[in-house]
Order: sequence, then structure tokens, then C-alpha cells
Amino acid sequence: MSATNTKMQKLLTWVDERFPLTSSWKAHLSEYYAPKNFNFWYFFGSLALLVLVIQIVTGIFLVMHFKPDASVNASGVPVAFASVEYIMRDVPWGWLIRYMHSTGASAFFIVVYLHMFRGMIYGSYRKPRELIWIFGMIIFLCLMAEAFFGYLLPWGQMSYWGAQVIVNLFSAIPFIGPDLSLWLRGDYVVGDATLNRFFAFHVIAVPLVLVGLVVAHIIALHEVGSNNPDGVEIKKKKGADGIPLDGIPFHPYYTVKDIVGVVVFLMVFSIVIFFMPEAGGYFIEANNFFPADPLQTPPHIAPVWYFTPFYSILRAVTYPLFGIDAKFWGVVAMGASAIIFVFLPWLDRSPAKSIRYRGPIYKSFLAAFLVSFFTLGYLGVLPPTPARTLVSQLCAMVYFAFFLLMPVYSSIDKCKPEPDRVTEK
Ligand code: HEM
Repeated sequence: MSATNTKMQKLLTWVDERFPLTSSWKAHLSEYYAPKNFNFWYFFGSLALLVLVIQIVTGIFLVMHFKPDASVNASGVPVAFASVEYIMRDVPWGWLIRYMHSTGASAFFIVVYLHMFRGMIYGSYRKPRELIWIFGMIIFLCLMAEAFFGYLLPWGQMSYWGAQVIVNLFSAIPFIGPDLSLWLRGDYVVGDATLNRFFAFHVIAVPLVLVGLVVAHIIALHEVGSNNPDGVEIKKKKGADGIPLDGIPFHPYYTVKDIVGVVVFLMVFSIVIFFMPEAGGYFIEANNFFPADPLQTPPHIAPVWYFTPFYSILRAVTYPLFGIDAKFWGVVAMGASAIIFVFLPWLDRSPAKSIRYRGPIYKSFLAAFLVSFFTLGYLGVLPPTPARTLVSQLCAMVYFAFFLLMPVYSSIDKCKPEPDRVTEK
């Protein structure tokens, strides 16, 4: 052993006697045995981690120049809006940092939706992974809050009116609604107080919670071990050495495999940032290039694409019930449509975990759910018409039927027998 190696070894021993560095490396990477049959669906967890890091790092640089101030400057432009323009035009590489952050927001949702869908098709939410799923769902809700708070900050027309619409929704809650929305805004209209509190939530409160939850999510995952495309529990079949027969060390096998996902992701991410940062108005809406104007409501207010399936469900509820107006029930339906995923571990009674071995009824319900999710998403960006409202009502029914009827259809479905070992050759 060379002198440098001996010194490194000594340093490592010194650290290990004071901090579990080598044992953590082994437990979570070099001796964490993951199923050997992971496919591309398993890229999205590590990609979500990557996007989280991108958002935090670019966010730190944006905060160095952004000013959460709704008052107008000498040119009559709100200071917050002008500070974003300053980042785009005058700060060296500011445009890149800002576009990385705005594209990162949409990328986060794309990656997380695919990650959740993977969980659904392979039954990753089922015993013993319910807590991983619950942590994931809280992460998802925090992510929605984070995106909502962040969208107000540039103080453009869409920021302003989007926040106005969403905060006003709370006023539909009987008795406490109007006071609640006033309390949330900190003013009678969305204003400087709202901008300051949304800034506080966006840059520190929610990210702290998010990072904590992601740590809990991964600790829970490493406690029970990963699921896989066959839905087989690899810990049930171990060799004489106590290592799962179908397991391979996460490092180096999956660290190397994940690099492929990272490279492909960064290529697509760069194409969007450099050639189409607004993504045709889906990632940054055209109206947000105009400063917020409380006196001029844009003709059509739509949320960013990742909220639109839920927003469509809100608009699909058009009938009052028990003397309470439709808006309130819309808010309830919208909330329920986002939260209902959390119950999947208890709604699913299928004998098979993975879609590979599930029967035709589950597959048909899942396909219908997907079609309704995309249709609702598409309708949510368009202004409502009677025909569109009818289609969203039908889609909303299919959406909820997927979950609420699951205990019935998943238990009567004809599944194929699950294998004992993973089927990867
Ligand atoms: C910031 C967001 C998130 C991050 C950074 C994250 C990270 C990860 C990572 C690194 C893994 C292991 C690799 C993999 O299986 O792909 C994982 C697994 C998992 N995640 Fe997430 N996740 C996030 C959000 C979510 C959400 C929103 C859900 C669901 C509601 C979820 C549900 C799961 C499940 C069920 C697993 C285990 C999958 C399996 O073993 O088959 N995650 N997550």
C-alpha cells in the first residue's frame, strides 16, 4: 500500500470511529441489494432527486437577485417583476439560471408523475411499502404547494390572477371561508403581504419539509427494499450468505445504470432550456411576460399544465348540494382527486402486484383512468364550454371510479400466477 493510501485509510478509520461513514455507504449503496430486473421505470426516483438538487441550487442563485416587492419602481413596473427582468437581461448567465428553474418545475412534475405511475403499475405502494407511498404522497402535495407559491413570485399577470383565483377558492368554505382567504392573502387583494409570505414559504418552509420527506422516503425504502417489475419480494429467497438471490449491489450496478437516465434527461432538459424555454406557453405562460395589473383581468386564466387535471375536476362540479354552492363541492372534489392516491394500498385487493400478472379488468380500468387524466389535463387549459364541461364531468366520474371501485374489481379480476423469482435472464 502506498503512503497516500495508508494516510487515506487512517483518515477513514478516524472518521468511522466518530461517524458511521463506511457503514452508511455499505448499508445504502455498496451492500444495498436491489432487484436485478429494474427497467427504465426505475430511473425516475433518482431523476426526481436530481431535479430537486437543480431546483435548490438554481433557486439559491435566483434569490441573490430577486426582490419580493410588489411596489412599483420609478418606471412604473413592480419591483419583483423588474428584478426577474434584471436576472434575464443583466445578471451574467441569469437567463440560464432562471430557465433552468422554470423548466425544472415542469420537469419535476413530469418525472414525479412517471415515478408515481411506475408505483401504480408495479403495485409498489402495497405491503410492506405503504409508508414509502404515504411519504411520497405528502411529497407530491408539498410539491404542488411549492409550485403554486413559486408561480406568484415573478409577479406577472398569470402569477397574480392565478393566485387570486386559487386563494378565492377558500372563500367557498362555509362560515370561515371569507376570513380564511383574507388571512391567507394578508390583504383584501393579492398584494405585497401575499408576495412576501409566498416567498417565505417557497424559499425556505416548503423546501425544508420536502428535503426532510425525501430523506424519510428513502430511509423507508431501504428498510423494506425495492419492489421490481415482477412484484416479487427478493428478500424471501436468500443464499447461504444471506444475500437475496435476485439482488445485486446498488453500487456500482445501479449507480452506473442511473447515469444513462441522467444523460438522457439532461439532453432533453437542455433542448427545452436552449430552444423552447416557454414550451409553447405550457412551461411559462405568455401572459406572465406582462407585469401584474390588479385592474385588468386576463380574458382566460388557466393554471400551469401540471395542475390542470385537478383544476378540470374543480370546474366539472356545477351543481349545488345541501344548500352549499357548487364552488365549495368543486374544491372538495379537487382536493379529493389529489389526495385519493394515498388510499391505494388499502383499495387494491388484487392477488397480483405487478401489471405483468394482473387481469384484464384492472388493465381496462387503468387505461380508462389514464385517458381521463390526460383529457382532464387538456380540458383544464381551455376556457370552459357546455360540451367541455360535460366531457370533464364524465372523465371525473371515470377518474374516481378507478379508485372507488378498485376493492371490487381488483378482487374479482383473473390474475396470472406470480413467479417465485424475478424473470430477468
Ligand atoms: C421529490 C420527489 C421524490 C423523490 C426525490 C423520490 C425519490 C425516490 C427514489 C430515489 C426511489 C428509489 C428509486 C426508484 O425506485 O425509482 C424512490 C422509490 C419510490 N418512490 Fe419516490 N420520490 C419522490 C416522490 C414520490 C412520490 C410523489 C411517490 C408517490 C406518491 C413516490 C413513491 C415511491 C415508491 C412507491 C417507491 C418504491 C418503488 C419500488 O420499489 O418499486 N415517490 N423514490
